[in-house]
Amino acid sequence: MDPIRNPFAPGAGSPPPELAGRDTVRQKMALCLERLRIGRPAKSLMLVGLRGVGKTVLLDQMMKDASANDIITVRIEAPEGRSLPAMLAPQLRLALLRLKPVAKATHHAIQGLKALAGFASKLKLTYNDIEVGFDYDPEPGLADNGDLEGDLSMLLEQVGLAAKDANTVVAIYIDELQYVKEPQLAALISALHRCSQKQLPVTVVGAGLPQLRGKMGEAKSYAERLFEFPEIGPLNPEEATDAIVKPVRDEAADIEAGAVELIIQQTKGYPYFLQEWGKHAWEIASQSPITVTDVENAHAETIATLDESFFRVRFDRLTPTEKQYLRAMADLGPGPHRSGDIAAALNRETSSLGPIRNNLINKGMIWSPTHGDTAFTVPLFDEFMKRILPGQEWKGADS
Ligand SMILES: Nc1ncnc2c1ncn2[C@@H]1O[C@H](COP(=O)(O)OP(=O)(O)O)[C@@H](O)[C@H]1O
Ligand SMILES: [Mg+2]
Repeated sequence: MDPIRNPFAPGAGSPPPELAGRDTVRQKMALCLERLRIGRPAKSLMLVGLRGVGKTVLLDQMMKDASANDIITVRIEAPEGRSLPAMLAPQLRLALLRLKPVAKATHHAIQGLKALAGFASKLKLTYNDIEVGFDYDPEPGLADNGDLEGDLSMLLEQVGLAAKDANTVVAIYIDELQYVKEPQLAALISALHRCSQKQLPVTVVGAGLPQLRGKMGEAKSYAERLFEFPEIGPLNPEEATDAIVKPVRDEAADIEAGAVELIIQQTKGYPYFLQEWGKHAWEIASQSPITVTDVENAHAETIATLDESFFRVRFDRLTPTEKQYLRAMADLGPGPHRSGDIAAALNRETSSLGPIRNNLINKGMIWSPTHGDTAFTVPLFDEFMKRILPGQEWKGADS
C-alpha cells in the first residue's frame, strides 16, 4: 500500500499515530497539576517501564496536555554524564522569563532570575558544565551557598512563588531520570519536598527505567510520599488493537482481525514492536485490507529492522564480557534470573561477576526487580541475544 501514507512511527520518541491505552494516566497527571495550581497536595508521576514501552512519547503528550491548560512546561533529557543542575538551569530560566511579563508574577520572577544567577555562579565550581545566561546580578544570600540541595530548594521556591502569583504551575518534565546521580536526585527530591510543604506549584514529572523507583527511594526515603510510580508496560490486546487498527482506518484502509491478532501475538503488545510490525505489514500489503499472509510475509523484514535499530544500538555499547553475561541470561530464558544461576551458566563465582553486572545496570541494560534477581530492561532482548550470538561460542574456551 502507498508508502507515503504509511501511518506507523517506529523510533525512540516518535509520536505514534494513536497513543493507545494511556488515557487514565494522562487524566491522573492533569488532575495532579490542577490540584497543585490551587495549592492542594498532589503526588506527581514518575513513569517507569522497560525500553520501548512509550514512556518518552507519553511524557511528551502529558507536556502538551499541560501546555494546553496554561501550565508552564519545560523539558529536560538526562543524558549519561551531564549534571542535573547544568540541565535544569537554562530551562528554569526559560520558565522564569515566561512568568516575568505576567504583571502579578513579575516581582517573584525577577527574584527567581537573581536566585538563578547565584545558583549558577556558585555551583559552577562543582558542576563546571553549567552554562546559562544571566539576566540579573545575583543577590547575596539567595541560592548562592554553593550547596546543591539548599540552593536548588531556594531557587525552586522562587520559581514556585512566581508561578503561584501567575495562577499557574511550573512543571519540569525529565526523561531518562535514572541516569541522574544519586546526590543530585536527592537534592531535586528535597527541593520539591520543600515546595510541597510550602504549597507552591512546582513539580517534576519524570520517566525512566524500572530501577528509578528504587533509586529515588534510596536517594530520599520520603520520595514515595511525593511521587507515584505508574508502571508503563505493554498494551493489553484491546489497546494494542486500537494502536494498529485506528491508524489504518484513519487512512481509509483496513486490516483483517486475524492479521491484528498475529501482530499482537508477535509483539506481546509492546508499543515499539507494534509500530514496527504495523509499518512493515502496511509496506508489504499490495492492497487493503492487510491480511494474515501479509503479516506473515512481513516477519523476516520486521525482525531484521528491529535487530538493526532497536536492539543493535544497545548491543553495540557493550564490551565482550558484558555481551557474554547477557547471552548467558538469554540462555536461561526471558527472566528475571537469579544471579547465582547466571554465574553458574558462565562457570563463574557470583561475586566475581558483580562489577560486570553493575556496569550493565549503569548502562541501563538490566535491572534488579528484587534483591539478587536480574532482568533485561529491553523487552524480548533474550530472543535478540540468541539471534545475534547463536551457537555455543559465547561460552568461551575455558568453560
Ligand atoms: N501508547 C502507545 N500506542 C502506540 N504506540 C506507542 C505508544 N507508546 C509508544 N508507542 C510507540 O512506541 C515507540 C517507543 O516509544 P518511546 O516513547 O520512545 O518508548 P520509551 O521511551 O519507553 O523507550 C515509538 O515508536 C512510539 O511511537
Ligand atoms: Mg524513552
